[in-house]
Order: sequence, then C-alpha cells, then structure tokens
Amino acid sequence: MHLLTIQKYSFLFIDICPMEKESVLIELQNAIRRKFEYQETAHDYWHVVRVVKMAKHLAKLEGGNVFIIEVAAWCHDVGDYKFEQQDSAEVQITQLLNKLAFPPAEINTIISIVEAVSFSGAKATRDEMSVETKIVQDADRLDAIGAIGIARCFAYAGHKGHGIFHPEKRTVNQKSCEAIAPTEGTAIAHFYDKLLLLKDLLNTESAQAIGVKRHTFMEQYLNQFYKELDCVI
Ligand code: ADP
Ligand code: NI
Repeated sequence: MHLLTIQKYSFLFIDICPMEKESVLIELQNAIRRKFEYQETAHDYWHVVRVVKMAKHLAKLEGGNVFIIEVAAWCHDVGDYKFEQQDSAEVQITQLLNKLAFPPAEINTIISIVEAVSFSGAKATRDEMSVETKIVQDADRLDAIGAIGIARCFAYAGHKGHGIFHPEKRTVNQKSCEAIAPTEGTAIAHFYDKLLLLKDLLNTESAQAIGVKRHTFMEQYLNQFYKELDCVI
C-alpha cells in the first residue's frame, strides 16, 4: 500500500447491521486499549479515545463514512515508528482487523487512511485525500494543539528528557509568539517547530474553526509564559 495510490474511495463496506458494527467497534476499542494502555502519556489510549471522539464529531459536520472514520481513528497510531519497533502499521492493522473478520478491501482502506495520517499528509495533497482521511488527520492534529496539546507537549518533552525552555537561547521575537524559535529540543521550541503551524494544516472547515480557537489559546499561553519569565506578572 503506497501513499501515492490514495484516491477518493467509493466504499463497499460489508452490509452488516448497526448492532454488528457496534460489537465490532467495541472489540476494536478493547484491543486498542490493551495495546496503548501503558504507552507514554502523549500517545496513550486516551489520546486515541479523544481522536475517535473528535473524528466522529467532524464526521457529523463534514460527512464521510462514519464507520470507516471510526475504525481508522481507533487504528491511527498502530504501528507508528516513533514509539514502537514492532511490525509496520500495514502488518499490525491487517492482523488486528483480520481477527475481527473485516474484508480485505476495507482493511486496505483503513491502512491507506492510517498511512496518510501518520505521514502527516506529506506525500498526499489535500485533493488526493478522501474525506475520511482528512477527518482522521484533522482529529489527530487537533489533539496536538490547545490546552490538551500543551499538556501533551510537556508530557512528551518530559518523557524524552528535554527541558522546558532555554532562557539563554531566547530571541526578542519570541516575546510576540511570532518568531520561529531555535530548534533546541525544548518543549517551548516545539510550539514553533510544530504546534503553531498546525492551524494552517487542517483540512476541513469544521476542524479549522476549532483550530483557530485552540491556536489563540496557545498564543495566550506563550504570552503569559514570557511575562512570567520577565516577572511582569
Ligand atoms: P502525531 O500524534 O501526529 O503522530 P507526534 O507523534 O509528532 O505527532 O506528536 C505526538 C505528541 O507529542 C504531540 O502532542 C506533539 O506535540 C508531541 N511532541 C512530538 N514531538 C515533540 C517534541 N520534540 N517536544 C515536545 N512534544 C513533542
Ligand atoms: Ni495520534
């Protein structure tokens, strides 16, 4: 499965009744919980739960196949090279969904979505993505910004043994939150490396509306952070 093969799908999901879909989703949720329960907290089971909830919320506003969106959201961090060195996403998701009797065509659809999400869409343009892919990617990105995004950033930095901030490396522009901070591997630098850029990388209008609010909150947070450094407050 290659990113360049991603197309807009016409879904042919097996015609199972809502109750059966519900029980498949519960089994999938339990499997994901077992897998991510003890993961480092920025990527743990509760991150996946938030992404699923947001993806379903966005699906209501933007459309798309809700079942595929929910399954892909549950699977979106499976096989992520950043925190597990086991089999690839493709192998692990195939095993997982095979056990739940998913047909191969739908398994491939889920893998395509997950690969596009974890590569941050680097190789697939917005036009090449299905609405399902756009929604799962937006849901994952929204969880990296705002109050929860800030918490995850500091949790991840702590996990990696990075510092909060290097006052000596501070630039004048950082005060206004507008500058690109030096990429020093601190939690605050990560705002400039990634978090403050995410608002403009969201695909759907519904996610963009949420993203703007979360972005503004992060700017307020940074302004307060710099004021406290200067003993202004
Ligand atoms: P994704 O969840 O899209 O795969 P990442 O794994 O890069 O993205 O990031 C997961 C979480 O960890 C995010 O909340 C992100 O902000 C945070 N994170 C990633 N890299 C860093 C870093 N160098 N410093 C602080 N936080 C980080
Ligand atoms: Ni994620």
